[in-house]
Amino acid sequence: MCGIVGYIGKREKREFLLDGLKELEYRGYDSAGIAVLHQNEINYFKASGKLDNLVEKTKDFRSIGFGLGIAHTRWATHGKPTEINAHPHWGEFSFVIHNGIIENYMDIKKDLQSEGVVFLSQTDSEVIVHLFEKFVNLGFEPETAFEKTIASLKGAYAILLISKVASQKIFFAKNAVPLIIGKNEEDELFFGSSDAPLIGFASEVIYLEDGTYGWANEKEINLYKDSKQIELSFKLLNSSKIYAQKDGYRFFMEKEIYEQSAVTSETLMGRIKDEKVYLEEVENLDFSKIDEIKICACGTSYHAALTSSYLFERISKIRCSVEIASEFRYKKPLLTQKTLFLVISQSGETADTLEALKMAKRAGLKTLSICNVDNSSIVRISDATILTRAGIEKGVASTKAFATQVLSLWLLALHVGSEKIDENEYASEIKAMRSIPEVLRVDEKIHEKIHRLSKRYLHGHGFFFIGRDIFFPLALEGALKLKEISYLHAEGYPAGEMKHGPIALADSKLFTIALMPQTMLYEKTKSNVEELSARDATILAISPKEFELADDFIKTAPHEHPMSEFFEMMVITQLLALEISIRLGNDVDMPRNLAKSVTVE
Ligand code: M6R
Repeated sequence: MCGIVGYIGKREKREFLLDGLKELEYRGYDSAGIAVLHQNEINYFKASGKLDNLVEKTKDFRSIGFGLGIAHTRWATHGKPTEINAHPHWGEFSFVIHNGIIENYMDIKKDLQSEGVVFLSQTDSEVIVHLFEKFVNLGFEPETAFEKTIASLKGAYAILLISKVASQKIFFAKNAVPLIIGKNEEDELFFGSSDAPLIGFASEVIYLEDGTYGWANEKEINLYKDSKQIELSFKLLNSSKIYAQKDGYRFFMEKEIYEQSAVTSETLMGRIKDEKVYLEEVENLDFSKIDEIKICACGTSYHAALTSSYLFERISKIRCSVEIASEFRYKKPLLTQKTLFLVISQSGETADTLEALKMAKRAGLKTLSICNVDNSSIVRISDATILTRAGIEKGVASTKAFATQVLSLWLLALHVGSEKIDENEYASEIKAMRSIPEVLRVDEKIHEKIHRLSKRYLHGHGFFFIGRDIFFPLALEGALKLKEISYLHAEGYPAGEMKHGPIALADSKLFTIALMPQTMLYEKTKSNVEELSARDATILAISPKEFELADDFIKTAPHEHPMSEFFEMMVITQLLALEISIRLGNDVDMPRNLAKSVTVE
């Protein structure tokens, strides 16, 4: 995901900007650039690929004395990861960097082109700098021109803009994408998309709110919302780098659970327009020629696949089968030409999944991947890819990657099913989908409750996570999370299947985590849980409905759509695994025997 760094002051700017970008490297990117305004001259450099390429390009550049600098790492969304699409983008006298997506950029671009503006890149971001210059050329003061520019934009953005017409100022704006301003006693100002690049430089920071914009120079920061100036509220900045990378969370996994709301916004960004799913990545796939989707994946990605198989059959009305990649490879599978072969992988490098994909390609099937890492092996050989946009996931136990995979698959299911479900149903899917980032906002009270409850679940002879329908793969995923990081034995099971064997294990030391959504087979699941309770199993029920037989109960919100319940329960199971493991003193981010990317079979 993109990263932003900015600076106003007398410090040597190249070094600060490049070091700042290094701090953001972990987020993932495919190109980078900087621009420095000094004595009314703007120097800029861009490079595709790794930051080292930019370091090399700028090796003879230094900027000493008062000046402004902006820097950016880009994770491609609109336009390929080329140098020309890297930020900053420029006009006649101004430069801009931008994170997010400008949803109405096409309309703005067409208007500007009709007025003779020439665009160099394929990005949505370039419209910002041309729009600003248009208003300046019409005679507006730079501040008004910037305000008018921001008012014209729809979508998500963190923006820094510098211009020769205001050579002491950085203009900034923030909506739905993070942007932070920091200061210190030496009258230096710093900007960042997270506080990591500011650590050790700024002593206090402002975390900008959505809808705010303004301009800053060495002496002052002017912050506005809805054309009204608003007060600055600075907070002290912690000075530890590791703390900053983890944003104050105890583990990367915890941070990544909390990030799920923001990253799912990124997954959706630009993919729902005018209340319709818009997936330009699969435009060239002709779904009318496909009568089956076969999905291959491993681990958590396999659980995302299983979840989506319910959605493909229910929403897209298309047959869907799911296979564990390591099994698929050696079963001599029957592959038919009307099958779309879909692989799911966070890393894009998992050996078994990659090999399964190669087999499908050799058999002449159309292939599609859902992946988090652009340019990974899986992305490179798939016919098409939907990037999940989760940003780099550091915790070995996958959380935000799973959330974004499921959301991407749901988008795809709705895209394929758009002609097959009725209008009302389609509209209710879109409404629920739009609400997911909000559903994923972690409720601190629930987290606190899970923390308290976790002390009762440190022993026992095992856990069963149970659920029905899409809550069965969620049960599998909940169990996988717990066993990966707590080293306790846990299994996911379809609730209705317990009586066919596993119920023999039931006693007070068998912990059952019961996923009991109100929108999906509630009564059926309830009977299954009652059967376990009758055999004295300890029940932790997760449900919006009170359940009197529960030993412990976590109440969820009364959502109307199963997927909203799914995502809320997903967070609860992740936090439960996290809190149990922390109490057991385990290294949550690097559990024993596991690797983040499994590149051997
Ligand atoms: O990178 P991939 O999604 O292909 O990885 C697949 C599995 O190795 C991965 O999901 C693994 O199960 C995680 N540790 C789960 O938390």
